[in-house]
Amino acid sequence: MSLPTLTTARLKLRQLVEADRESVVKVFSDPEMSRFFAADFSDPAAASGMVDRRLAYRGPAGQGHWVIERDGEVIGVAHLRPSSELPGGVPELGYYVGAAHAGQGLASEAARAVLDHGLDGLGLPAVWALVHENNAASRKVAGRLGFLDVGSGIHYGDLHRVLVALPATHGRPHHIELWVPDLAEAERSWGWLLGELGWREFQRWPDGVSWRLGATYLVVEASPAMSAAGHERTRPGLNHLALHVDTRAHVDDLATRAADHGWQPLFADMYPHAGGDAHYAAYLENDAGFEVELVALEGPAPAGPTTGS
Ligand SMILES: CC(C)(COP(=O)(O)OP(=O)(O)OC[C@H]1O[C@@H](n2cnc3c(N)ncnc32)[C@H](O)[C@@H]1OP(=O)(O)O)[C@@H](O)C(=O)NCCC(=O)NCCS
Repeated sequence: MSLPTLTTARLKLRQLVEADRESVVKVFSDPEMSRFFAADFSDPAAASGMVDRRLAYRGPAGQGHWVIERDGEVIGVAHLRPSSELPGGVPELGYYVGAAHAGQGLASEAARAVLDHGLDGLGLPAVWALVHENNAASRKVAGRLGFLDVGSGIHYGDLHRVLVALPATHGRPHHIELWVPDLAEAERSWGWLLGELGWREFQRWPDGVSWRLGATYLVVEASPAMSAAGHERTRPGLNHLALHVDTRAHVDDLATRAADHGWQPLFADMYPHAGGDAHYAAYLENDAGFEVELVALEGPAPAGPTTGS
């Protein structure tokens, strides 16, 4: 299973391979590296065993173990993999930089790259970290990366802070505004669908209404400035809006019930794979001609666009 190479201003993070064993053992040869761990990885056999466990990783795509290289030299390791300590195997981040390279911001730089890969690249809803209560340097790294301290517990045999990093709103949709010919029809179809997906009414005025989910809201407005009678999804402009749904069963349920709320199925003969074999989605169109796609991301996400019309 291959991991992407992550590049930063000073570092290259690439997938750990067997040929890195000796370099990694060397990084951990300073007993200071193991100060906050239950095992002493300055013992080459212990460090080599740790490399074995890392090489044996078989988990979700895009997660795993990297070496941290600076100018071609392995100076540390980093990981993002399902936690063995936290419930549900949530993704857990870890970072280790050799003592000879400490104090230059390199762990922060490497950990930032892995965190961004997890939250922005893989679209994980959260990334977790467990940091020994007395590991001040690591707590500083995590704090700098925006990790929130949500408590403490006994993990890896000792008291650890439990930290979580959540996706930032930067660069994400703030709101989406749809101009609709018939506000009542839009409320009936969009209001029902968004309500089913957890959106809540946010704003209301004579010509419009909006619903919000988290930091994003969607507006439907029958604007007096509208310059055409209706929406046509095959014309330039918005073709469709695609929304995440938590499970395939939920997509099935919404697709079935949508007919009672102003939505007709599109590409019904290919349901649920009109977007491709690996893509599970319902395509619906309301009376005003707006198309919505309800997508359940279970298993690896396909590359590229998922529908042509
Ligand atoms: C913890 C570790 C990753 C830090 O690596 P690093 O490259 O030195 O980290 P950075 O330089 O990015 O940041 C460390 C920060 O902690 C500060 N720091 C270091 N030792 C400290 C201490 N004892 N008390 C308080 N702050 C300390 C540094 O000054 C630096 O802050 P600054 O940039 O504001 O000066 C590295 O020492 C290490 O690998 N340790 C062993 C393994 C480990 O504990 N990993 C973390 C597992 S959760």
